[in-house]
Amino acid sequence: MSVTLRDIEEIKSGFDPVAARSFSLPSRFYIEPDSLEFEKRAIFHRSWQFVCHGEKLKDPGSYIAFDVQGQAIVALRDGEGALRAFYNVCRHRAHELLSGEGRTKLITCPYHAWAYTLDGRLHAVRNEERIEKFDKADFCLMPVKIEAFCDLIFINLDPDATSLKEQAGGLGGEVLSYAPDIANLTHAHRMTYTIKANWKAVVDNFLECYHCPVAHRDFCSLVEMDTYKVTTHGIYSSHMAKAGRADNSAYDVADATVQDHAVWWLWPNMSLMRYPGAGNFMVWQFIPAGPEETYEIFDFFFEKPEPSAAEMEAIRYIDEVLQQEDIGLCESVQRGMRTPAFERGRFMADPGGSGMSEHGVHHFHGLLLDAYERMAG
Ligand code: FES
Ligand SMILES: [Fe+2]
Repeated sequence: MSVTLRDIEEIKSGFDPVAARSFSLPSRFYIEPDSLEFEKRAIFHRSWQFVCHGEKLKDPGSYIAFDVQGQAIVALRDGEGALRAFYNVCRHRAHELLSGEGRTKLITCPYHAWAYTLDGRLHAVRNEERIEKFDKADFCLMPVKIEAFCDLIFINLDPDATSLKEQAGGLGGEVLSYAPDIANLTHAHRMTYTIKANWKAVVDNFLECYHCPVAHRDFCSLVEMDTYKVTTHGIYSSHMAKAGRADNSAYDVADATVQDHAVWWLWPNMSLMRYPGAGNFMVWQFIPAGPEETYEIFDFFFEKPEPSAAEMEAIRYIDEVLQQEDIGLCESVQRGMRTPAFERGRFMADPGGSGMSEHGVHHFHGLLLDAYERMAG
């Protein structure tokens, strides 16, 4: 279950730091189960992963349980107001502790009722005196790094990870300059999709707009493509354009206060978006569900928990038009990757950094290569 040094040499033989000279990642890394198993450890268990908007963990005792590529995790706000995250695993016999989301004062295991405080200390053990040489202090919950970033909550399973704020450089400032209202927005809608394509094919598709004039006719009437600019930085990229033309065929923007298409991709598998309309923010996650399957979660945060008619129209456009167009593209690419007719492709690189360029995809492939190398080395 590994990507070997030989595999890395193979990737490197085609990869060039200059996009116009580089080949893309070989197709077998989009197909083989071993590659995904390796990526779980090399990427998903070492990077900052989105949990929820800060509103969900505002109150003391609020918690949310979730899974990060096979690892059960719980994030919570403790009684003193600190954010905490732990493996959601009991130290007695490994049963999962909390499920779903809610509020609690104590974490009580549903198996034999060992109970933990919200700071992770083992508090009560039934018939404790019958266990010899037993010190509850040796059986605390295993902590996980957690951080609030732009009022969004993230966790990282790597105990040595540096903070997201530090890793993300200018991203926080950019997001807050386009979405200064992000902390006050509230969850209003969720859409999910299962796509028959490797998660990297879905990210590749997200990271360029070379395909937009070909595949997204309505999108190109909403967004001013000649202003579209993609900039890559460290572990994220920015995809910016002026948008909100009144005569567009995507959705009605007559009352829009936001006139931008401001989109960021954050390593490895999420994007943050602000679209034309009323105050809004969207978080989109691309979660591997198998070597050739991706589960997408698309959360909308609006000024009110009930989407307005105009917001519903935008949601419908994204769900019924834009997403369907992209899902078709990704699934076709995945089928193509399984044939001997494709091994690795090239990048269209515009030195001006426009949306017609694929340098954002090349940037992603460079980060993949770095992550593979770090783990294999
Ligand atoms: S496994 Fe949790 S109390 Fe037994
Ligand atoms: Fe697309």
